[in-house]
Amino acid sequence: MAVRFLLNGAPRAEEAASPTMTVLDWLRTVARLTGTKEGCAEGDCGACTIAIGRMRDGAVRYEAVNSCLMLLPQLDGAAVLTVEGVADGPRLHPVQKAMLEADATQCGFCTPGFVMSMVALQQEGGAQSDDAIHEALAGNLCRCTGYRAIVDACRRLPSAPLMPSENGAAMPARVGAYRVQDQTFLAPSTLEELLALRARHPEAVLLGGGTDLGLRVSKDRERWPLVISTGAVEELRRIEVTSDAIEIGGAVTYSDLLPQLDRHFPAFAALARRLGSRQIRNLGTLAGNLATASPIGDTLPCLIALGATVRLRSEAGGRTLRVEDFITGYRTTALAADEVIESISIPLLAPDVLFAAYKTSKRFDQDISTVVAAFRMKMDGGHVRDLAAVFGGMATRVQRATSLEGVAVGRPWRADALAGLETLLAQDFSPLSDHRGSAAYRLRAAAGLVRRFHLETSTQTILVRLEAL
Ligand SMILES: Cc1cc2nc3c(=O)[nH]c(=O)nc-3n(C[C@H](O)[C@H](O)[C@H](O)COP(=O)(O)OP(=O)(O)OC[C@H]3O[C@@H](n4cnc5c(N)ncnc54)[C@H](O)[C@@H]3O)c2cc1C
Ligand code: FES
Ligand code: FES
Repeated sequence: MAVRFLLNGAPRAEEAASPTMTVLDWLRTVARLTGTKEGCAEGDCGACTIAIGRMRDGAVRYEAVNSCLMLLPQLDGAAVLTVEGVADGPRLHPVQKAMLEADATQCGFCTPGFVMSMVALQQEGGAQSDDAIHEALAGNLCRCTGYRAIVDACRRLPSAPLMPSENGAAMPARVGAYRVQDQTFLAPSTLEELLALRARHPEAVLLGGGTDLGLRVSKDRERWPLVISTGAVEELRRIEVTSDAIEIGGAVTYSDLLPQLDRHFPAFAALARRLGSRQIRNLGTLAGNLATASPIGDTLPCLIALGATVRLRSEAGGRTLRVEDFITGYRTTALAADEVIESISIPLLAPDVLFAAYKTSKRFDQDISTVVAAFRMKMDGGHVRDLAAVFGGMATRVQRATSLEGVAVGRPWRADALAGLETLLAQDFSPLSDHRGSAAYRLRAAAGLVRRFHLETSTQTILVRLEAL
């Protein structure tokens, strides 16, 4: 059975390429569209950026993605736009024209990727501010032109969305199953089907956005016999906000989640905006971050500090665990082979509860954390009544600083209560030294984040946020 999609406006069916071929490889070697470049093949450089359109609320919404991390069948039923498809015949797309007029290209290797990020930015509502421009471009690296000219090109764009040229062909129907020789890719559209497939094939690779798993294909050249994708399961793409919690489906991407995080947990939203790049956040899911259980998974300290729970489902039934208990060790979880993450539930914060989250990394954007921390605190008459202090990058798993919590609770929230902080943290954590930071650096950085939280929650002074400069 063929996988069907629109390629630069024209219907396209593919029935012979491997289901684990990356979209980038397919574009360059099968479709012979070599405008899309391969730089790093691991989601970091943006040279491979394309835009993927899907029906949302009755219209096609385009999002920039890294084609090096996507598998060909993930295009099922989508509209694919590459740099070859944006111009209208000989007439350049306004983004291309702006790049030209702003002298924003030199060797040109990065340029198609930038153009596609900018086209997607236009589709999303335009370059409304420099912050929006920086956020949209953070996943694209340019080594020779420099960003001033590229940002300048973005500023020249009209604010109205610019639709790419299309021949008006209708979006193709999704097929849901793609088989070539001994490889199969299944993309069920209901939770019931997903659970039945998972029960029958516990050995299959369960794919979310593929921003972790995709590296095993693009870098390690793994060739999987069977992949089950969560991406098309309607029930898993929902976000529900009730009076006391926000429930996030197991296939919700960061980009879809961010508006709700902005509303209910701004500090979590600010951290999530630094997770990967726009291209990564358009594909990657919260459930994927949780299931990976990385000791530097950025969302995990927030989820644990906020008391989030995870709902697991299999054909046999469901169970709910605290995120804290779901993670069992270094990249291990309580997920059984026949289970999937159905949803993650985060209790809303009471007005008198303080919450903050911080990430330290070598680069502000698109970088893996060295130390990441989240704090939830309730005060009572100047005393700490309740504190959750959770750190990533300090142990083999994301973990609470129980000694610190024990010392702080019941005491006044004063600077002197934090004396001997490094010693306290050293009781809870024996961090590793690696190229991102030594053990001593990590302990000092973690202590610095506690002091920062203290400062931000105990002074009326307007603090300068260094990361914002
Ligand atoms: C360039 C780049 C930058 C990145 N930057 C960051 C960063 O700054 N911070 C950070 O924390 N991470 C980062 N990541 C890692 C990754 O983007 C995240 O962990 C992301 O949340 C993974 O989600 P996904 O849907 O893409 O997972 P996938 O790759 O699809 O899957 C990851 C794991 O989750 C499992 N899984 C997915 N969905 C479910 C489900 N519903 N039920 C059960 N299991 C499921 C899969 O089986 C697999 O084991 C980065 C990755 C790249 C490539
Ligand atoms: S090739 Fe570098 S992000 Fe895809
Ligand atoms: S123009 Fe050469 S890398 Fe950007």
